[in-house]
Amino acid sequence: MERVKNYINGKWVDSRSGETFDSINPANRDEVIGIVPKSGREDVDQAVKAARGAYEAWRFTPAPRRGEILFRAAEILLRDKEPLGKLETREMGKILPEGLGDVQEAIDMGYYMAGEGRRLSGETVPSELFNKDMKSIRVPVGVFGLITPWNFPIAIPGWKVFPALVCGNTVVFKPSSDTPVCATKFVGALAEAGLPKGVVNLVHGPGGEVGEYLVSHPEVDAVSFTGSFDTGRRLEGICGAIHRIIAAEMGGKNAIIVMDDANLNLAVEGGIWGAFGTTGQRCTAASRIVVHKRVYREFTERFRKAASRLKLGDGLQKATDVGPVINQSQFNKILKYIEIGKKEGAKLILGGKACQKGDCSKGYFVEPTIFSGVTPEMRIAQEEIFGPVVSVIKAEDLEDAIQIVNRIPYGLSSAIYTQDVNSSAVAERDLETGIVYINASTIGAEIQLPFGGVKHSGYGREEAGGRGGALDTYSRWKVIYRDFSGRLQKAQMDK
Ligand code: UN1
Repeated sequence: MERVKNYINGKWVDSRSGETFDSINPANRDEVIGIVPKSGREDVDQAVKAARGAYEAWRFTPAPRRGEILFRAAEILLRDKEPLGKLETREMGKILPEGLGDVQEAIDMGYYMAGEGRRLSGETVPSELFNKDMKSIRVPVGVFGLITPWNFPIAIPGWKVFPALVCGNTVVFKPSSDTPVCATKFVGALAEAGLPKGVVNLVHGPGGEVGEYLVSHPEVDAVSFTGSFDTGRRLEGICGAIHRIIAAEMGGKNAIIVMDDANLNLAVEGGIWGAFGTTGQRCTAASRIVVHKRVYREFTERFRKAASRLKLGDGLQKATDVGPVINQSQFNKILKYIEIGKKEGAKLILGGKACQKGDCSKGYFVEPTIFSGVTPEMRIAQEEIFGPVVSVIKAEDLEDAIQIVNRIPYGLSSAIYTQDVNSSAVAERDLETGIVYINASTIGAEIQLPFGGVKHSGYGREEAGGRGGALDTYSRWKVIYRDFSGRLQKAQMDK
């Protein structure tokens, strides 16, 4: 157990009130992972003041120097990958290989953004006029408020903090109260890497109090949020009213299409990984599998069999495939959705219960659960559950499958399994999601390209790299025209 602190203006400090809360292991409620400052408005004020104070010097620091600090932070995360991965498993519940993968995703982003310190390129383009030049340059936005979820407790802070810093912004970071120790370690890597004081500030505390105050703080310039649609929409409302930029990455209700010509072994494996990897707690998780009627029976049976072999338990045990869900309220919500599915007339073919015996007795464990015979309009096929529950839906043909995938409020990720190049091309064109996978599951995006969705999944391609990715969220374009003709030239008129 660790006592963690806030990080404000280069110092590790308790909350002003001295109050704390516990972070616990979702696989074993008796294990306290950390005692964490429960901050309030005054702590946010201090953190924002520090970020504002550090901004001028940081934005004038040459971008390659900024990138070098990120590079060192990535090296520190790599050095500590093993203990950090284990900490993720203990604090968040995901199995150890996934915990290590989560740390790796932050490392990847650190290296990527470190390189951007020597790029951050804009455009120079010709003018219509004589003796005039013009260019676009990236400039920082200012002080960013960053709010991150618990399901990727180190990767997502990396997706946000690294690009924010390389662009020259300073940051106040409010991580999820379910994974504060992981967030603290991430900030610790930046501090150890030599980040000047005030450039990153960490404030722990409840979202309703600390998060919302941060988002609406008069000295914050922009916000980046990843989390649920309900919270995101509320924050968008706050920001809209005060004309503040917010990038919001929210939920998903992602689907895999399995065509009649699919390699079914691969489709089953992809379905298992998408539905039950991270215990279904990814915004990219596959919570619907839409199967062509000709292979529906065979696929469903093979999928059920494969899922029935998954072992539920503590993610530190080698044999475990599926870990716990994060907390009591998610646990209750998932079980409630299973009841809804039954009432709606879907056929429960696997799981459907909490597991509270043996290894599972002290944690929030829900059995991998499959409903078949689900129709597209059922609530379990429309609403985000964020747990190990998947719906199998029958489709007539490709067009019908695509319609089913698209007719929901979300649009983050989708996938199709097919051997037919034409079907894959149609799917690629017509699936209304920010990310489309062909012969791969709905999870596993890489940081080199933009990440994000459409509709209720959010807007902005905020987190990853690539053109139109994170750099566009964390910088503004400034355009410079220089006229060295020595006379008044009138654009569009002097031809
Ligand atoms: C998330 O669930 O919020 O594509 C992010 C993936 C991961 C990121 C998921 N690389 O599944």
